Amino acid sequence: MSFYKSKWWKESIGYQIYIKSFKDSNDDGIGDLNGIIEKLDYLKDLGIDFLWICPFYQSPMVDNGYDVSDFFKVDSSFGTIKDFKNLVKEAKKRKMKIIVDLILNQTSDEHIWFIESRKDKENPYRNFYIWEKGREKDEGLTEPTNWASFFGGSVWEYDSKTDEYYMKIFSKHMPDLNWCNPFVRKKMHEVAKFWLDLGVSGFRVDAAAHLGRKKKLVDSKLNNNDKYKKDWRMFSNLKETFIYLDEFNKEVFSKGDILTVGEVGGSATVKEAIKYSGIKKGSLNMVFNFDHCFCNNVYDVKSKDDKIKTNLIGLKRVFNMWHTKTYKKAWQPLYWLNHDHPRLLSQYGNEDEPFLSGSMLAVALYFKGGTPFIYQGEELGMVNYPFKKIEDFNDVSLINHYNHEKEKASFNKEDFIYQEGIRSRDNARTIMSWDNSKYAGFSNVKPWFHLDKNYEKRNVKNALKDKDSLYYFYQKIFKLRKDKRYSKTLIYGKYQQLLKDDEDIYCYLRKEDKEILVVANFFNKNKEIEIKGYKVKDILISNYKKENKNLKSLKLRPYEAIVYLVERDK
Ligand code: GLC
Ligand code: CA
Repeated sequence: MSFYKSKWWKESIGYQIYIKSFKDSNDDGIGDLNGIIEKLDYLKDLGIDFLWICPFYQSPMVDNGYDVSDFFKVDSSFGTIKDFKNLVKEAKKRKMKIIVDLILNQTSDEHIWFIESRKDKENPYRNFYIWEKGREKDEGLTEPTNWASFFGGSVWEYDSKTDEYYMKIFSKHMPDLNWCNPFVRKKMHEVAKFWLDLGVSGFRVDAAAHLGRKKKLVDSKLNNNDKYKKDWRMFSNLKETFIYLDEFNKEVFSKGDILTVGEVGGSATVKEAIKYSGIKKGSLNMVFNFDHCFCNNVYDVKSKDDKIKTNLIGLKRVFNMWHTKTYKKAWQPLYWLNHDHPRLLSQYGNEDEPFLSGSMLAVALYFKGGTPFIYQGEELGMVNYPFKKIEDFNDVSLINHYNHEKEKASFNKEDFIYQEGIRSRDNARTIMSWDNSKYAGFSNVKPWFHLDKNYEKRNVKNALKDKDSLYYFYQKIFKLRKDKRYSKTLIYGKYQQLLKDDEDIYCYLRKEDKEILVVANFFNKNKEIEIKGYKVKDILISNYKKENKNLKSLKLRPYEAIVYLVERDK
């Protein structure tokens, strides 16, 4: 396939829905499929073409649905298969598509395969999971290897019934499937086919980087004091993973005109990303990396005295690397955050300047090449929740970490809560703000989780009434991406970074049949810059009313963002 070959998923705008927090239609405090149907017109008006809906399959909800106990059923708290079919139908009426999470790495421990698997070593399902004996020679550990799990503790969980350990790179309630086993692979192909038959237009492939495992289990050689080594390379991007995904593509993905986006963040390099999603040979259309999620000190903050600060030079380096090295080789998804990250304004923006900083961040990202994925509430400027006590949190990963950390002599509970409050995944999972009523228009009963602290002011109802709202700014960006005059440049154009060493201003050109210049002041201060060799033909969008057109002496105000159509200044 050629890079320029037109595909719906290259030219569409996506929106991610964390279903549990989006809209409750039947007043049980939990968002559901019918709630999404109620809001399709809202999303359509924003300019959204497809929805990625987080898992709604039958689940004990240890990880809010990423722990699936039946892949072929809708969890009763979210609705029914009939509701899902209806959602697809209603979306189609509005020319919108639905993509769903495909959870390949693990099941719930309540899945029938695992219930069988743990019964005895001869069980036909034994090999559906990864079972190992404990280590013989004790080196302070009993587990088969010294690898840490993403959610805290060891990747191994002891099961006394058969005196063996099973592998679980997330929670002990989420045992990892054994992808070496061809029956497992075949079953998972069936799962994907089942949802395709119900009308989904693609998949977000959860934890795609981890399917392959080392045949021979060896300890990590990381040399630190951690009991279990956080050595993700031991089970990430291994060659078997690529083989399994290629097979999946051959058997399932390649048979439809669908969108596939793999989650390989955290560990995959550009080279590996091209291997996953290369235009010529990749098994996925694109992959999410997380590199831009770590260009601030959110994950290093220790106490209230540490101010959150963007490392713009680092962010620019990351963006430049991905957009130049993958150009014409692999497609890119564009996203600021998902359900596993803190809110955008609370890390790269300014909670007190939702319009200016939010619109600046939108300009910085969504004029690049790739497929945008907006996260619910981003268009309203939703922010982190002020977590005060451990009971305020819900995330299984955080609670696991807490239980491990609190055993350490150096543990300080107050610091822990402060640090996690800033970086917790729970921030993204607060309730969507629809209006200023008691439960934010989400439900008529108390929702399962917290409301946004600003929901009374910042909500959909108010945003729709205010023509200068962040919502309408997002809408305008999406209209520009689809405007025939600019779309070729904005969707397929080359990315060229300018002012590489400027610590405050992010600036890039997009070049194809036209040249478009994007300028974004990341900070709450004035700054003057000079852009050589170009002059302004037109202004496509700007977040201040009186725009500056003189590129030779461009005086930028706090969080000013502006997109120009330019031409060479000979
Ligand atoms: C992915 C999901 C995350 C989940 C994990 C386990 O990283 O995005 O929410 O906890 O996989 O499925
Ligand atoms: Ca409900």
